[in-house]
Amino acid sequence: MPVSKLHGMSVPNIEVHPTPDAVAAAAAERIVERSREALAEKETFALGLAGGSTPEALYELLASPAYNWRIDWPRVEIFFGDERCVPPDHLQSNYGMAKRALLDHLPIPGDNVYRMKGELDPEQAAMQYGRMLKDKFGDGGLDLLLVGMGDDGHTLSLFPQTRALDETEHRCAANFVPKLDAWRITLTAPFANRSGRVLGLVTGASKAAAVAEVLEGDVDECDYPIKLIDPGPDRFIMLLDAAAAGMGTESSEEEVV
Ligand code: 6PG
Repeated sequence: MPVSKLHGMSVPNIEVHPTPDAVAAAAAERIVERSREALAEKETFALGLAGGSTPEALYELLASPAYNWRIDWPRVEIFFGDERCVPPDHLQSNYGMAKRALLDHLPIPGDNVYRMKGELDPEQAAMQYGRMLKDKFGDGGLDLLLVGMGDDGHTLSLFPQTRALDETEHRCAANFVPKLDAWRITLTAPFANRSGRVLGLVTGASKAAAVAEVLEGDVDECDYPIKLIDPGPDRFIMLLDAAAAGMGTESSEEEVV
């Protein structure tokens, strides 16, 4: 889908793949490609990981023999897009999921993994993470940020009608989410948009309505925060499976990438 301007925002480039596994494989290829681009120009590749359940298959694929040799992992620095306010070994921890599916299986130096400290006071954890990002990137950003999307159009932990949507100064924020009755730590949209590339992974029929609203509707970013993600033309690629694209499960191969 060509990039078009909508409400002053760039609409992401869309790729539709038949299944969640095909989305994971396409994402893995793009991560390999982006890592090689970055490492051709500098010493390290700054990769931001998405949370939730969708990326787990991607992380397992990247850690598998099919892919684990294709990225120069000792030169990869790992960051997180958001985190639940729980300890790192909690089942709900995004870091914990990434550790089990990816980090424990790859030669990434421990110092290269920058965890959001969900066990701390949310405001303190967000301030610490934001200071680290400022020290490391200054006015720059990640080389590649992975994001997901909820069925309500949230991304990272930028949920509809929450305070962090309005954060324009800091790179990381604590965000209370009334619908979850829980605090989250999240990258802010301005910092996410400094990423060299943003790669969205959205799968499942439950996301189809939100995908349609975001790509075709006239909805506001306060109600569908993924619309805040706008790193610039051709820098936000959204990978959908057929179900999330509203093509149902009966879609034929030739209808999707
Ligand atoms: C989180 C995520 C969040 C996630 C969406 C989609 O901490 O939950 O970062 O933004 O990407 O909620 O989650 P699923 O992949 O589980 O559908």
